[in-house]
Parts: sequence; C-alpha cells; structure tokens
Amino acid sequence: MPELALEATGLHKTYHDGEGRLAVLRGVDINLAVGESMALVGRSGSGKSTLLNLLGLLDRPDAGEIRVGGTATEKLGESGRNRLRGREIGFVFQNYHLLGDFTVEENVMLGAAVGGGGGFRATNRARAREWLDRLGLISRAGQRPFRLSGGEQQRVAIARAMLASPKVMLCDEPTGNLDAATGREVADWLWRACRETGMAMLLVTHEMALADRADRVFGIADGELSLLRPPAGTNN
Ligand SMILES: Nc1ncnc2c1ncn2[C@@H]1O[C@H](COP(=O)(O)OP(=O)(O)OP(=O)(O)O)[C@@H](O)[C@H]1O
Ligand SMILES: [Mg+2]
Repeated sequence: MPELALEATGLHKTYHDGEGRLAVLRGVDINLAVGESMALVGRSGSGKSTLLNLLGLLDRPDAGEIRVGGTATEKLGESGRNRLRGREIGFVFQNYHLLGDFTVEENVMLGAAVGGGGGFRATNRARAREWLDRLGLISRAGQRPFRLSGGEQQRVAIARAMLASPKVMLCDEPTGNLDAATGREVADWLWRACRETGMAMLLVTHEMALADRADRVFGIADGELSLLRPPAGTNN
C-alpha cells in the first residue's frame, strides 16, 4: 500500500437553502498517495469546490471521514484542524487571493505563517525570495500584486503556498482566469513544484489538456466520483 497523503471515505454534504436541500456529495471516497497528482473534472455546480473545501478542512462533511497525513480529523476542534491544515495543505485558487496592501515578497512570506512558521522573519524572507527566484519573479519582489499580470499573480500564489511546505496542494481551477498559453505555463510551475518537493496535488479544472497531465483523472456527477482515466501502465 502506498503511503496516503489524503484519505476520505463516505463523504456526504447537503446544503440547506431556505426550503430546499441540495445533496451535493453522496458518498465520495477519495485517496491521494504521497507524491501523486489527481485531476477532478465536472460540470459547474457538480460539487468540485465543495469537495476541495472538505478535503482542505475549510468545511466539514455531514458524514464521512477525512484523514490528512494519517491524522483523523472528525474529532479535531477548530484549532487542531487549523494546525493540521497549515502544516499539511496548500491552496491555489482561481482568483489568487493575494493581499493588496502587501508586497509580492510579503505575500509569499505570509504563506509560512499559515504553516505555523511565523511571518515576517529573516529566514522566511530568504525562502520567499528563493521561491520567487525559482518562479521567475524575483525582480517583482518589492511590487504590489496589482501591478502583476494574472499569470504572475498566480505564480506568487504558488510561491506563497510552497512556503508552508505542504504535503498536499489543493488547486481549484488555478488556470481558470488565464489564457491558454499562460495557463500551461502556470501548470508547468505547479508540476515542477510537485516533482521537486514530492508534494501530492489534487487539481480541479475544466481543461482536459491540463487534467490529462495528472496521474489519475476523476469525474464528479450526481454527487459521486468516477475514475475517468487510471494511471498509465495499469489496465483496470
Ligand atoms: N454555502 C452554500 N450554500 C448553499 N449552496 C451551496 C453552497 N456552496 C455551494 N452550493 C451549491 O452546491 C452546488 C455545488 O457547488 P460547488 O461550488 O461545489 O460546484 P463546482 O463544481 O465547484 O462548480 P464550478 O465549476 O462552477 O466552480 C452548487 O449548486 C452550489 O450552488
Ligand atoms: Mg468551483
């Protein structure tokens, strides 16, 4: 058995909206091995972000179990969940979520604070600059994020996520706001960061070309996951 970075079984999630109920997840099982990449595709509203939010401990399922890095989460309180999330999980969202009042370098340094490693320390500054350099953005370190293009801002968001040294990266349409060429470039950086660090990645995307780069591709529909493409070299 490969070591699992993330393991979820029997996840259910229903939203209650006034009179209505919407059963978005109806028994989802998902495993992500250490170092593995997985893509998740599905129509708008099918529950991709809902699932990512549960796996990233940003929200709780109605039923089911989630283990992150071997730690069971259902009995953890908020502070325990926050610590585990900060230590194990990185996020990259479609809209970058950079802080406009801080410089590029400071935004990246704040990624270490999320992981419990303090914020504006000299060691974090050095690591932030190292990641900005790897991502080709060291010359922009002192600028405010709004001066950067979308692709550049997303690379800053990747650097920020990397500063917490996550074991799992959860990406919700990381190229959704970018043109095709820039999207490919950002995806290249994400995969390179995974390779270099051994990080696992779960990638939500509408783009099949991007999904196809993952080890496994899953679809989500009617609250359930189905395997669309197994890893290369297997015949099941
Ligand atoms: N907090 C909430 N309260 C009520 N309904 C919600 C809530 N969050 C999501 N939903 C509903 O749950 C369904 C799944 O939403 P979700 O955001 O997970 O879809 P998605 O697959 O990420 O879609 P997209 O591709 O458009 O991002 C949608 O119908 C959405 O309206
Ligand atoms: Mg979504």
